[in-house]
Amino acid sequence: MNPPQPSLRTRITDLFAIRHPILCGGLNHLAIHDYVGAVVNAGAMGFITPRSYASDAAFRDGLKRCAEITGGWRFGVNLYVSARPEQNEALKRFMAIAIEEGVRYAETAGYRPDAFLPALKAAGVTVVHKCTTLRHALAAEKAGVDAVTILGMEAGGHPGMRLVGGIVQGALVPRALGVPVVLGGGIGTGRQLVAALALGADGVLMGSRMTVASEVWAHPDYKRRVIEADEGATRVVMGIFGDNSRVLDNRTAREVGALEADGITDFERYRPLVRGPYQREAYETGDWERGTLSLGQSCVFADRIAPVAEILEEIMAEAVAVRDRIAALNGRQS
Ligand SMILES: Cc1cc2nc3c(=O)[nH]c(=O)nc-3n(C[C@H](O)[C@H](O)[C@H](O)COP(=O)(O)O)c2cc1C
Repeated sequence: MNPPQPSLRTRITDLFAIRHPILCGGLNHLAIHDYVGAVVNAGAMGFITPRSYASDAAFRDGLKRCAEITGGWRFGVNLYVSARPEQNEALKRFMAIAIEEGVRYAETAGYRPDAFLPALKAAGVTVVHKCTTLRHALAAEKAGVDAVTILGMEAGGHPGMRLVGGIVQGALVPRALGVPVVLGGGIGTGRQLVAALALGADGVLMGSRMTVASEVWAHPDYKRRVIEADEGATRVVMGIFGDNSRVLDNRTAREVGALEADGITDFERYRPLVRGPYQREAYETGDWERGTLSLGQSCVFADRIAPVAEILEEIMAEAVAVRDRIAALNGRQS
């Protein structure tokens, strides 16, 4: 059966064989098979985060379950590359498992993906690399990725040390690259999707907007906090170590911010606050004051807990209406 045609067809809908020009980025702890399967079934592309699983075997099982949910292998994995090679050992295992199982798409992020591209390309995996500067976008294109996601400073997770806004990235990066470009950071509405296309992007990436989806396993109290959050409810932390994160502005983030304001560079002082298990516990218990919880300014657009398909349909309906409204604008004839 052929999938329905995209209402907004771009190079990204063609590249990922999806109905909507929307990628849903990796969400550590949260982007597992249920959520990613729902994203793919709703007509967008999602990426499973391998570290969300307790073991390699559980990750492999998660891939198989996603294939069952989607009826095939047309979904993605997120491969977060560290600048320190010794930290990429797990990544190599994740990549090998994904390739063995037959996963068709990958979102690389973090450090440059060059070392991993030959294996991915040899396996026929389509790769979109996520980065925060024009320079890294050009380098990724040169290295052979199929598409690039460029993030603005509004983004949850790692918004880049230079903190360039999305509207600048969107006007800057697509016209400098030959490969399709996806704009991310702060996006959660159809009107922003049309704006991204107007800037020259071929699609958008969303993360924070999707954290409240019904298929995301996190505790309802966490989701309620995201829904209440306004556009100023996040904070950029850990810049003192040269790799910052945009997170929910909670008690932990403020404690981290206070250490940074004091100029403390001893990581051991931060470790008790930023440990990964605290994030997981926060999602499990709903105690959102605990841990540094990635979240971007687009949390303001998360207005209710709803199925992925409903969120994406609402965004696409608005995008099509906005496109038509703009197409109907007529300048005064002189
Ligand atoms: C809760 C959460 C966890 C994230 N975990 C990851 C991750 O493990 N790997 C990654 O590449 N990006 C991660 N990100 C970033 C997203 O994939 C995406 O780049 C970002 O959310 C886009 O900006 P937005 O939040 O404004 O939509 C995470 C974001 C959030 C909100």
